[in-house]
Amino acid sequence: VRMTAPRIGLTCLIAWSLAVGEVRAADVYPRGTLTSSQGGQTDLSGVRGAKATVLVFLSVECPISNGYVPALNALAEKYAPQGVKVVGLNSNPGQSLRDMESHRREYHIGFPVVKDAGASMARSLEVKECPAVCVFDEQGELKYRGRIDDRYGRRGGPVNAVRRADLEEALRQVLAGDKVSQPRTEVVGCPIQLTIPKASAPKDGAPQITYSEHIAPLLQRNCQQCHRPGGIGPFALMNYDQALAWADDIRRFTADGSMPPWKPVEGWGDFRNRRSMSHEEIQQIDRWVQAGCPEGDRSRLPPPPQFVDGWTLGEPDFILGPSEPYTVSSDGKDEYRCFVLPTNFDDDQYVVALEVLPGNMRVVHHVIAFIDTSGRSNKLDAADSGPGYTTTQATPGFLPVSGLGGWAPGNVPDRLPDGMAKVLPKGANVVMQVHYHKTGKAEIDQTRLGVHLAKKPIERAVRVLPVMPFGGPLSGMEIPAGADHHEIRCSVTLPVDMQAIGVTPHMHLLGKDMQLTATSPDGRVERLLYVKNWDFNWQEGYKFRRPVALARGTRIDMVAHFDNSTANQNNPRNPPEVVGWGEQTFDEMCIAFLEWAPQQPAKDRAELKVPPTREVLRFMLECQGPNRRDGKMTPQAEFLMKLLEKRLKKMDEEAGG
Ligand code: HEC
Repeated sequence: VRMTAPRIGLTCLIAWSLAVGEVRAADVYPRGTLTSSQGGQTDLSGVRGAKATVLVFLSVECPISNGYVPALNALAEKYAPQGVKVVGLNSNPGQSLRDMESHRREYHIGFPVVKDAGASMARSLEVKECPAVCVFDEQGELKYRGRIDDRYGRRGGPVNAVRRADLEEALRQVLAGDKVSQPRTEVVGCPIQLTIPKASAPKDGAPQITYSEHIAPLLQRNCQQCHRPGGIGPFALMNYDQALAWADDIRRFTADGSMPPWKPVEGWGDFRNRRSMSHEEIQQIDRWVQAGCPEGDRSRLPPPPQFVDGWTLGEPDFILGPSEPYTVSSDGKDEYRCFVLPTNFDDDQYVVALEVLPGNMRVVHHVIAFIDTSGRSNKLDAADSGPGYTTTQATPGFLPVSGLGGWAPGNVPDRLPDGMAKVLPKGANVVMQVHYHKTGKAEIDQTRLGVHLAKKPIERAVRVLPVMPFGGPLSGMEIPAGADHHEIRCSVTLPVDMQAIGVTPHMHLLGKDMQLTATSPDGRVERLLYVKNWDFNWQEGYKFRRPVALARGTRIDMVAHFDNSTANQNNPRNPPEVVGWGEQTFDEMCIAFLEWAPQQPAKDRAELKVPPTREVLRFMLECQGPNRRDGKMTPQAEFLMKLLEKRLKKMDEEAGG
């Protein structure tokens, strides 16, 4: 009989149930014979630890569960001498013993993994997600059920520092014979499908939504460029069984708009690389899952889409990449690795497209190609062993004169509008910064850049204007501790007629939202971009479908908000502290990189050159000029401006004499 006692303390509950001669199935170590991924039947009691047992529910596909493998291995090893055993359970339908075993080897899982057929253990232990853990004591009583630790605030979110190691805490208390201080915690992870949906006929004669006819084409269009073998998505959605296994999540993540990933708010900017599903498509998924995921007539399946593995823009004019592969370690925080790629051209090169070919989609999170003419990247490279050098921040460690482009998950490479190019100065280094995610096992990557050069005459050089509080680090930006909606505003006024080509917003972990508008001299307001749910993990450049003409005198206004309260799960500091501008991930930035080209075609090749630092400074000052007249600058910015003006004057004198 299933006990329906009120929710009283666990010890109380067990004591009471023992007294009445009944123990809740969920509170004792489960019995039964299960098949191990290594073959052979395992009586669960045979793998039980002498002092304590940890059952962990794993999945071969869940990125969170995979991310915990190194931590679980370390825990199993550390506590084995104290008589603790760790056992992995796989309760996911559709993940076979063969899948489990190849996964165990691939991730070097150091403990047995057994199949929980029909998810009966998960059900009796009331476990709904991977990677939930259950800790049993010597007597086989359940003492803890929940998460491993708190490094994940939400699914799809960043990996935070561990503040509470719940599993280890519970284990230590059990071994010491103490009461577990927090016996239940919520798990952040992938749901275990506990029931296989049963397809039902639609009511009132509505047409049935089936996988073969409706859902497969929709997944092809919206999901498979990432969710395919070798793709950036953590699992494939290529056939009926895969769609069925993830059905509830597919519904949930499409209904709330988090998949396919796309951050800009509709109505703000018209972007070429937009990804989104129609309302009808989202409803079709909903109705399909509600109806029990019917498969339908397989003969109506659309032909499988063709994905190009390799250069999608064709063979590049030249390829840049590190000469040897780089090994990304299995565990820990994200890594920003910069690879220095020298170029040896006698002349400036005009780059019309950059295609990034990630070597290993499982670890490469995004890629940015910077241009270094200072030579500083060589020094940084020499000071770090192995290919490239690591920066602890999202910048390359030098002041880039320009950028060549980049890549983020799902990016489709394309060419710049006709007559436009990015200029690669002769003798420059291209520095390729790769942002790596750790997957739970060591991964090897060798990402390459395919560079396409102009075949037609170039009239406009594409440049980048950072829209940000003037002076960046010296702008005096301060986000007060605890503020949950701190506003930052800034403006620049364009000193020339330009065409905006794209925009890349950049903030760190406290960023909430960012809006950019352009107000023309005659007062017309153009909405350029609005990212409402900023996600540090999902940084992308947005390319305007058609270049946006911005007349001289147009004011670009930025409004951004930051959450420096404890309610922000990504806040790296607890308790919060005042945060200023800085390069580390736990500092902040507030920039919109606006890619632009002059409205007027260049008169000669000299005008296309990457301008010297002096010109870059002058341009920045000109953009700020009107702010000063309106008295909108902070004292710090005012000071900085004077300093720069002096510096510029000196440079001019030197250049003149
Ligand atoms: C541009 C690439 C891309 C596209 C397109 C995409 N996804 Fe994803 N998806 C990802 C990545 C990467 C993750 C891993 C989580 C993250 O980093 O945000 C993910 C995670 C998920 C998850 C959650 C898994 C987890 O536990 O975190 C679901 C469910 C999902 N995607 C479903 C879909 C569906 C359904 C579609 C199409 C309607 C889709 N995705 C389109 C890249 C993509």
